[in-house]
Amino acid sequence: MSFSDHEAADPGLVAILAALKAGGTPVSGESLAAVTGVSRTAVWKRINRLKALGYEIAAAPRQGYRLLAVPDKLLPEEVLPGLATRRLRGPLHHFEVIGSTNDLAKELAAGGAPEGTLVTAEGQQAGRGRLGRQWLSPPGVGLYVSLVLRPNLPPTEMPALTLTTAVAGVRAVRRATGLTPDIKWPNDLLLDGKKVAGVLTEMETESDRIRYLVVGWGLNVNNAGFPPDLADIATSLRLAAGRTFSRVAILRAWLEEFEALYERFLARDFPAILREWREHNVTLGQEVQVRQGDRLICGRAVEVDEEGALLVEQPAGRLIRVVSGEITPDPGRGPGQ
Ligand code: BTN
Repeated sequence: MSFSDHEAADPGLVAILAALKAGGTPVSGESLAAVTGVSRTAVWKRINRLKALGYEIAAAPRQGYRLLAVPDKLLPEEVLPGLATRRLRGPLHHFEVIGSTNDLAKELAAGGAPEGTLVTAEGQQAGRGRLGRQWLSPPGVGLYVSLVLRPNLPPTEMPALTLTTAVAGVRAVRRATGLTPDIKWPNDLLLDGKKVAGVLTEMETESDRIRYLVVGWGLNVNNAGFPPDLADIATSLRLAAGRTFSRVAILRAWLEEFEALYERFLARDFPAILREWREHNVTLGQEVQVRQGDRLICGRAVEVDEEGALLVEQPAGRLIRVVSGEITPDPGRGPGQ
């Protein structure tokens, strides 16, 4: 059974695509058949499959096939080839539209999907944010991705892993776009004080170990604007930089950066990750209000400890340790972002 509109990567199709991308000049059906070791009819079928996926391919008699345009989509054929990752490399399930990539990733993980499984979508109809909020997910402009992890760790490691996802986001955005977002505890990314990305991490445990984790990353990439209720608190890379960006390039950077940090995390080097988190954070030193359910904790955010918890100093000097929650007043708060 296939879970996606489009799943991985038929090796023949990937080889044909690589050959078309390599030359820039027309490639004959014959040489494509030689490259892939299949018949010319099989080549023709795969060319049609690529066209159906959105690749523009011209076919000139006696010259062959020429790649004119690559779709701006988070397809496995674009995301996975040449990716410098060992663990986090699919299978990738891609959808034109889905309810929530996290929901499907959790379903796949519960059914035994391996670490590194990815779900991407062009748009989400029921994108979810932290604390039961929605995540506005218009088609074709944002990055909506969920990743399955299976760390052999106790659930108490979650807050630190949550901060790690923020550092991966900063590194990926910086590497792919040149923009350097700020981090708001625990893992919101901000540009110009407005929220540009958020992470929804969901966990399933058994016998005090993590059975699986789903890390869902939402990044506003090429949004030209936001509805009035979000315009003051949300932004996109495009609004911040005045140009558009490749979502595929950002996703590839995110997978590579996240894997490097995840391996460091598993090697018990969270202190180094925390140092990087501190360099980019805009929360420490601020007066904050942290909402934890019905409880509101007010004070100065003074430190994040080695487990990723926020330490809030109350006016009387008492330190409160906050493992999860939401900081208010909150530039990232709103129905969508
Ligand atoms: C937040 O509230 O800051 C977290 C937002 C997380 C949104 C992403 S988009 C991909 C994945 N699928 C979802 O439904 N949510 C996450």
